[in-house]
Amino acid sequence: MLCTTVSQLIGQTPVMPIAVPNSDATLVLKLEKNNPGGSMKDRMARSMVLTALQDGRLQPGGTIVESSSGNTGIGLALAAVELGLRFIAVVDHHAAPDKIRTMRALGAEIRYVEGDFREDEVAVVERQRLAAQLGAQLPDALFMNQSDNPANPEGYAGFVDELLAQLPEGIDAFVGCVGTGGSMTGIAQRLKRANAAIRTIAVEPAGSIIFGKPGHPYYQSGTGTPAGDEVGKVLDYGCIDEGVQVTDGQAFETARFIARRYGLLVGGSTGGTIYKALEFIAAGKLHGTVVTPVADGGEKYLGSVFDDEWMAKRDLLDPTIAAQLDAWLPGRARAA
Ligand SMILES: Cc1ncc(COP(=O)(O)O)c(C=O)c1O
Repeated sequence: MLCTTVSQLIGQTPVMPIAVPNSDATLVLKLEKNNPGGSMKDRMARSMVLTALQDGRLQPGGTIVESSSGNTGIGLALAAVELGLRFIAVVDHHAAPDKIRTMRALGAEIRYVEGDFREDEVAVVERQRLAAQLGAQLPDALFMNQSDNPANPEGYAGFVDELLAQLPEGIDAFVGCVGTGGSMTGIAQRLKRANAAIRTIAVEPAGSIIFGKPGHPYYQSGTGTPAGDEVGKVLDYGCIDEGVQVTDGQAFETARFIARRYGLLVGGSTGGTIYKALEFIAAGKLHGTVVTPVADGGEKYLGSVFDDEWMAKRDLLDPTIAAQLDAWLPGRARAA
């Protein structure tokens, strides 16, 4: 394929099937980390900007403002470069530092929210407030507001079209992470429209409030809704069969395990969906072709999830989880 713009590299991401021994299931990873900004969010960022330009809420040469933990910001930074827009990203210290460096490298202006926050505390409320304020105050500026923006879920139409073409034998289940709920809603609604029998499982971090459990701080980045924040208006609970929680330890140990077992670097939220997918499969609750997206890559978390010292300091290393994963996905014995 001959590309004249980077946005033409968005989508057409490969799928990687992993047979799960002692079960009738195959776990199919859709490698969204292969998008040019390194995450599935490139899809929705392009969709939100193009829609705003089309319906006139954003003028050519205008400014986009967004509160982001990083991946949406990277997608918006790409779109801004190509479409000649200014982009201001409002971030907090919870975001992975490399995601912020990437946005800067792509020409984004970075605004940190002020205030003292614990390192496992997401300052989403303050981020949203500052982004809305900047969007209202600056001339020709628009706050993208991904949590409430219908173009967020719409951005995943291509994901589902690709998946249905890549898996012509059919899909039995989809297990996805949920933050704003944009990806889960955009994907699950369309999958159910294609085949109402497809089971959809949404995974949030333990400590997130999306499925009604009490809130507490968590380390998983980009996913979940922390206490004090509002669940995204884009989230359609009606297309989700079951909402479940995964701990930081389960999510991060799984990302580390997948790297060592398959040579594939996945991010923490993906570790969480893979853990829950395997747990459901082992319990006989999911069968057949079970899809989960690799929302982003482990390259973005080398200083945290993949750093032994960082993990140990926060008491997140747990050999019993690694042993459980090894039982679910036994590896080839190494020659002595
Ligand atoms: C790595 C990662 N996982 C999961 C999510 C949650 O996705 P959504 O906002 O579509 O629910 C995000 C969102 O930023 C993310 O960056």
